[in-house]
Amino acid sequence: MLIFPVLLALAPLAAFASVVPRSVLYNDFLTKHSWPAGSPSPSWKYHSTPDPNTPLTIRIGLRPSNFDQLLGHLSETSDPYHSRYGAHLTKEHVEELMQPSEETKMEVTDWLNWHGMDNVEILPSSRYITLVIPVSLAETLLNTTYHVYAHTSDSSNQIIRTMEYSLPRHLHAHINLVSPTTYFGNMRSMKKSSFLKSLGLGDSDASNDMTPSSCSTIITPTCLQDLYHTANYTPSLTTNASFGIAGYLEEYAIRADLATFVTKFLPNTTNATFTTVLVNGGKNNQSEPGVEANLDVQYGTGMAYPIPMYYYSTGGSPRYVPDEFTPTDTNEPYLDWLDYILTLSNGDLPKTFSTSYGDDEQTVPDDYAFEVCNKFAELGARGASVLFSSGDDGVGGGNCSTNDGTNTVLFQPNFPASCPYVTTVGSTVGISPETAASFSAGGFSRLFAQPSYQSYAVSRFLTALNSSSTPYTGLYNASGRAYPDVSAQGEGFQVVIGGQVGSVGGTSCSSPTVAGIIALLNDYKLATNGTTLGFLNPLLYANAAAFNDIVSGSNPGCGTNGFEATTGWDPVTGLGTPDFVKLQSIV
Ligand SMILES: *[C@@H]1O[C@H](CO)[C@@H](O)[C@H](O)[C@H]1NC(C)=O
Ligand SMILES: *[C@@H]1O[C@H](CO)[C@@H](O)[C@H](O)[C@H]1NC(C)=O
Ligand SMILES: *[C@@H]1O[C@H](CO)[C@@H](O)[C@H](O)[C@H]1NC(C)=O
Ligand SMILES: *[C@@H]1O[C@H](CO)[C@@H](O)[C@H](O)[C@H]1NC(C)=O
Ligand SMILES: *[C@@H]1O[C@H](CO)[C@@H](O)[C@H](O)[C@H]1NC(C)=O
Ligand SMILES: *[C@@H]1O[C@H](CO)[C@@H](O)[C@H](O)[C@H]1NC(C)=O
Ligand SMILES: *[C@@H]1O[C@H](CO)[C@@H](O)[C@H](O)[C@H]1NC(C)=O
Ligand SMILES: *[C@@H]1O[C@H](CO)[C@@H](O)[C@H](O)[C@H]1NC(C)=O
Ligand SMILES: *[C@@H]1O[C@H](CO)[C@@H](O)[C@H](O)[C@H]1NC(C)=O
Repeated sequence: MLIFPVLLALAPLAAFASVVPRSVLYNDFLTKHSWPAGSPSPSWKYHSTPDPNTPLTIRIGLRPSNFDQLLGHLSETSDPYHSRYGAHLTKEHVEELMQPSEETKMEVTDWLNWHGMDNVEILPSSRYITLVIPVSLAETLLNTTYHVYAHTSDSSNQIIRTMEYSLPRHLHAHINLVSPTTYFGNMRSMKKSSFLKSLGLGDSDASNDMTPSSCSTIITPTCLQDLYHTANYTPSLTTNASFGIAGYLEEYAIRADLATFVTKFLPNTTNATFTTVLVNGGKNNQSEPGVEANLDVQYGTGMAYPIPMYYYSTGGSPRYVPDEFTPTDTNEPYLDWLDYILTLSNGDLPKTFSTSYGDDEQTVPDDYAFEVCNKFAELGARGASVLFSSGDDGVGGGNCSTNDGTNTVLFQPNFPASCPYVTTVGSTVGISPETAASFSAGGFSRLFAQPSYQSYAVSRFLTALNSSSTPYTGLYNASGRAYPDVSAQGEGFQVVIGGQVGSVGGTSCSSPTVAGIIALLNDYKLATNGTTLGFLNPLLYANAAAFNDIVSGSNPGCGTNGFEATTGWDPVTGLGTPDFVKLQSIV
């Protein structure tokens, strides 16, 4: 049984001919990704064997022909000292660079043809082949065995995955990723704490009390505007510099709550609103407020109003319940969101994004992590600035054991925070001075190499660390991508949730705050220079003085005191918290 969503004629396989018989070539398997015995995450347990006829939607991500060139463009156009700074690429140019080669298309389609799939679609603008095939055929293609796994907190929440998969040896050079395979999805919101206060909404006097001019007790947008010096800026080119919030896990942003929030905390801002965009079957139930979603939308608005805001409700949180009408499990939320957002033209693409979700890096297969991270590079190359929360578990949550079968204790980085093509935001608390929040996640990737834009700042930190009494040698990867890049307040944020005011903490607060400031900066840059900032990090590391350096506090975890915030960059607060007026002077 084969179902192909769209049938397109395939380019004839004219030139391709192999001297090795296909029966040999296609059975010479090499492992593409595998987990050691057990589950990569304690959240998912083996449940059952799927019916071999269950249709599975498989996506095959072909290797782009010119990704190195894309990175070359990104490095030039994001480098403030380069003559091409700000000359972002068009959508068409990026798609051309990301196209697979003819050889790749031919090798892969020939393989699929040999397995009986006669019509294989490769859209001109996409590197993905999507097939709906029975589990048994997927198992043959990938020499693997799929299982149904159930979530430990809710056994009706099921996914179909495998512990390892293989590809014919020669296809490793042509295929980046096949999904779903070994990515289990342990995505969580980077919200540490939240509680509802008993402040009633009928309390009309509350608005005065609740818009403190300083952020010393509780956090509201007006105190953040003062603290980070955005209060005197009025955006002008708003429609060209819109702001996007990526939402997952069935978190809904509530319009009525934003209206209440604005009335209470942003006087004189009466018509603030946002547009909800449903991605990949995402929903929008206005009776089910998401704390994370409301936090992101309310503080994004609080910092960046009246810049237009889009909230993306991305479907496909893990939920595979096999039945004949909803037979497939395609949940790959980051990829689903990225695939959607990259289809927008540059004119429609928001220029600033904030995301407050992540996974433990070690639970993300490396092929999946590279594929997702590289798509953030595409967004940056097209002139968008992408920000992520760093996470709320200091240098690592839980017992910090590795899942490679050895149970070694290591600091545990988060992903996508550890992707070198995003700007990662940690947390601070208090004012005069701001100090590092103890939960502020930070450290060093074990997957992604350290990018050159941060090597000076990071080596300064490492030199001092190495001569300290707690060098943590071996607990972290000194040559990995280091994060966070910057930070902002992250505790005591006043949020309206289901009509009630709540207080929320976590790096989930910090990312929309910094992203809102960047949205203003993108507006300013557009108005003064006609371009947007795009990928931020080379600019930020070259201008550390535009940040308030945070020099106290630490991020304990893994049975250690964690790293310490120090003069200059550190893996707790990055370069520090933003000063909008200083940032204006450098863009
Ligand atoms: C497929 O994998 C199994 C182990 O799961 C192995 O025994 C078998 O030889 C492999 N098949 C091929 C054609 O490599
Ligand atoms: C709101 O507008 C009034 C009248 O223009 C002004 O006096 C007041 O300062 C404004 N409040 C804020 C918080 O901007
Ligand atoms: C919101 O109100 C302001 C001031 O009245 C107005 O300039 C602006 O166009 C309005 N925005 C929207 C989206 O209606
Ligand atoms: C929306 O949420 C409410 C409250 O949880 C629930 O009662 C209702 O069934 C939901 N509606 C849909 C269409 O899911
Ligand atoms: C850490 O926790 C995991 C999962 O809960 C467990 O499998 C592992 O044995 C623990 N490791 C240590 C060193 O305690
Ligand atoms: C450290 O990071 C580098 C660069 O990404 C990687 O190649 C290496 O395998 C990592 N080492 C460890 C021990 O994780
Ligand atoms: C600090 O120590 C680590 C681990 O021993 C080493 O890899 C790194 O090169 C050292 N860095 C500096 C700047 O001395
Ligand atoms: C925008 O900034 C770039 C880099 O600083 C500069 O080369 C270019 O001339 C500026 N363009 C305008 C229109 O000011
Ligand atoms: C803003 O967008 C409009 C409509 O897409 C376009 O005509 C205009 O050139 C843009 N302005 C800038 C500064 O990019």
